[in-house]
Amino acid sequence: LIKGRERMAVDLKSEPLAPQCGVTIHDIRLAEAEGETLDAIRRAVFEHGVAVFRDQALSPEEHIELAKRWGGIDINNYFPLTDAHPEIAVVRKAAGQETNIGGAWHTDHSYDQVPAMGSILVARTLPPKGGDTLFAHMGAAYDALDEDTKREIEGLEAFHTADHVYKEGGIYAQTDIGGELRGQDLTTGATHPVVVRHPSTGRKLLYVNPSFTVTIAGRSRADSLPLLEKLFAEARNPQHHARVVWEPGTVTIWDNRTTWHNALNDYHGHAREMHRITLTGEKLAA
Ligand code: SIN
Repeated sequence: LIKGRERMAVDLKSEPLAPQCGVTIHDIRLAEAEGETLDAIRRAVFEHGVAVFRDQALSPEEHIELAKRWGGIDINNYFPLTDAHPEIAVVRKAAGQETNIGGAWHTDHSYDQVPAMGSILVARTLPPKGGDTLFAHMGAAYDALDEDTKREIEGLEAFHTADHVYKEGGIYAQTDIGGELRGQDLTTGATHPVVVRHPSTGRKLLYVNPSFTVTIAGRSRADSLPLLEKLFAEARNPQHHARVVWEPGTVTIWDNRTTWHNALNDYHGHAREMHRITLTGEKLAA
């Protein structure tokens, strides 16, 4: 009987979010997900890149407990935190602000030596319309490259940093959310293979992104750009994308190795607030 119940629990009711990226998982209460059920959710996130769960009513405490059961929390060095729940990064745009956090294609924390596995993002305040998040599947993007390009990037590494984004004088400092961010004094930098193998699925994934990957290792920025732009162009192909349309109670869990994401900034005059917990990852290899 127990076996039967376990089998039922891992048989997730799900449907694709888009042909190449994402999955919606039904009939799960994330606050209670553990054991075999959590393992099945992990597998779905690793394979599809992002999983969407509706009607969750996840409290901040349940959000933190879920992340701990998943495997550990990486505190983001830049986003605002709250005193009550310092594990939760607040991704907020006030009604009067122009700039949002994460409003360009990126992969979280790729500038770390051991990049974060992914995130659990909970919708707290949503605009009446807009504020969707786009995801791109980096396994699909890799597969779609022509054979010459695949040969060209075999064995290459790339350098990632967040210094031009978050440091004093960086991209965010020029905007109206610069004052809310932390970590302007930090220096970051990490080298990863251009193509990594997913630590769990073994799938080949393109692991460069336009926000944090600045050079191909050993080349100047100018010499790196033509190849990087070619790889980014494939990942920008909407064929590889999925769109998460948020509703009250929506939670997404994504995998930073399998996906890029981009928070659309198309809801000026309205507030949007999301709670993000960043999940601990592992060192990446080709
Ligand atoms: C992010 O983590 O980049 C923000 C995602 C979002 O706000 O939709």
